[in-house]
Amino acid sequence: MPNTTPFDPQWDPLLQAAWQAWERAYAPYSHFQVGAAILCRDGSVHVGCNVENASYGGTICAERTAICAAAAQGMRPNDMVALVVVTEAKTLTPPCGLCRQVIAEFAEDLPILLANRTERALHSISTLLPHAFTGRNLLTP
Ligand code: THU
Repeated sequence: MPNTTPFDPQWDPLLQAAWQAWERAYAPYSHFQVGAAILCRDGSVHVGCNVENASYGGTICAERTAICAAAAQGMRPNDMVALVVVTEAKTLTPPCGLCRQVIAEFAEDLPILLANRTERALHSISTLLPHAFTGRNLLTP
């Protein structure tokens, strides 16, 4: 989504998908529901929600759930066009560090829209995770 702004109606279908996933969050421990939706180049939309575990470290964030869902449908690096993350938190919820690393595996630059019910902010993976460690770093001994 080039040249977009947070309240561009282009975001609406992706936001709707993210809120639907948010409703399905499995968060019995934190009660902090997160929804995510990814738009791919082929027009496909892949959603995720956080899935918690009684062994807390087993918890998977909404962003990574969405990326895994997309990858399982064949999404590969540079196929993602945009990512939306929604919560009802007063302060918009940015992807955690681990999710930023996983996003960086699939996108050099990716618009990331953070939203709650009233506010929105637009970021990109390159500013959220500058100087990311990627597969390129493995090529130089
Ligand atoms: N969580 C996400 O799903 N995405 C984020 O960007 C931040 C945190 C989840 C993990 C856990 O289920 C809950 O939010 C509280 O950390």
